[in-house]
Amino acid sequence: MVMNVRGYATHSPTSPLGLFNFVRRDARATDVVIDILYCGVCHSDIHNARNDWDGSRYPMVPGHEIVGRVREVGAGVTGFKAGDAVGVGCLVDSCQHCRTCARGLEQYCENGFTPTYNGTDPHDRMPTFGGYSERIVVSDKFVVKVPDGLELSGAAPLLCAGITTWSPLRHWKVGQSSKVAVVGLGGLGHMALKLSKAMGADVTLFTRSAGKGDDARRLGADRMVLSTDAAQMAAVNGEFDLIIDTVPYVHDVNPYVATLAISGTLVLVGYLGPLDPMLNSAPLVMGRKTVAGSVIGGIAETQEMLDFCAVHGITSDVEVIRMQDINASFERMLKSDVKYRFVIDTASMPAA
Ligand SMILES: NC(=O)c1ccc[n+]([C@@H]2O[C@H](COP(=O)([O-])OP(=O)(O)OC[C@H]3O[C@@H](n4cnc5c(N)ncnc54)[C@H](OP(=O)(O)O)[C@@H]3O)[C@@H](O)[C@H]2O)c1
Ligand SMILES: [Zn+2]
Ligand SMILES: [Zn+2]
Repeated sequence: MVMNVRGYATHSPTSPLGLFNFVRRDARATDVVIDILYCGVCHSDIHNARNDWDGSRYPMVPGHEIVGRVREVGAGVTGFKAGDAVGVGCLVDSCQHCRTCARGLEQYCENGFTPTYNGTDPHDRMPTFGGYSERIVVSDKFVVKVPDGLELSGAAPLLCAGITTWSPLRHWKVGQSSKVAVVGLGGLGHMALKLSKAMGADVTLFTRSAGKGDDARRLGADRMVLSTDAAQMAAVNGEFDLIIDTVPYVHDVNPYVATLAISGTLVLVGYLGPLDPMLNSAPLVMGRKTVAGSVIGGIAETQEMLDFCAVHGITSDVEVIRMQDINASFERMLKSDVKYRFVIDTASMPAA
């Protein structure tokens, strides 16, 4: 048995997204069926839709910042019931028995996690389709609760932009005495500012966009550094314990390494691929500095982040769009013209 679902899909790296009717599995005993209310638009959706990272499969229904309400649950589900506000992020399954899954690090599953879209369900081999759609069926282990009090459209981007920045902030133990910098003020960047500020850190934004200063301060930055201005860069030489670099495309990382304090770490979360220009190891060696990477976060950690956001009143700054606006929204994102996350209201899904 399967269910018919409407969504928006792309059929090639160059075609626009359009209405797409497809099937999802009926609920298995441990599944939760979710009526999707909102889905955030992540820059990864553009990378995947356009095959920037190779391995894209079509038709593709993107979307991994999903918030909705439980429609029904399988017979074996005890943690969720119809009507609950829930979220689904970037992963919908993992092996559940490897060493990293056992540590709650499903995003690093040794057997590979199942992505919310552009993947294959390990049980029935059906393709996974994401949140640019009206309904999704997900194993209960990969569903999180959206705490009361979090506005739902603003909560959707927490499921990727939020957890992707939360995870390194926690892993590198950011707290009151930390000096944190964020590179790039987009979806991930604005969440990194809000979260690190709420953790008590002193926060700096690196940006190419001179006009983002007021927003940066409102979002939690104590200062802004224009990365294109050599004097401003020199003024923060040796400052930061942790830098979260969200830039989506190849860029020179060396100027940011110079701004790390001794033993500091720069975490790449945006760009995947060879660095150009090459990374100079000398400042790493001479300053015990680290250049690291990080991908999304585990399920327990995602719940922890949502609960933290509820306590601190943190949601994403969103521009709610109609499903039909998605292609124009991709173009605006590519021009860094979004404050600071597009979120699709799935009630706008065309009938046929
Ligand atoms: N590691 C993970 O788990 C994970 C999870 C989600 C997303 N991602 C990746 O993280 C990246 C950021 O995603 P996002 O949704 O936050 O994107 P976004 O909203 O488009 O923001 C990216 C920001 O980076 C800056 N930027 C853009 N192009 C740049 C360039 N060529 N050189 C320098 N800076 C540039 C801009 O900020 P300024 O205007 O302030 O300079 C822009 O606002 C994407 O590559 C995405 O695929 C990774
Ligand atoms: Zn994402
Ligand atoms: Zn595993």
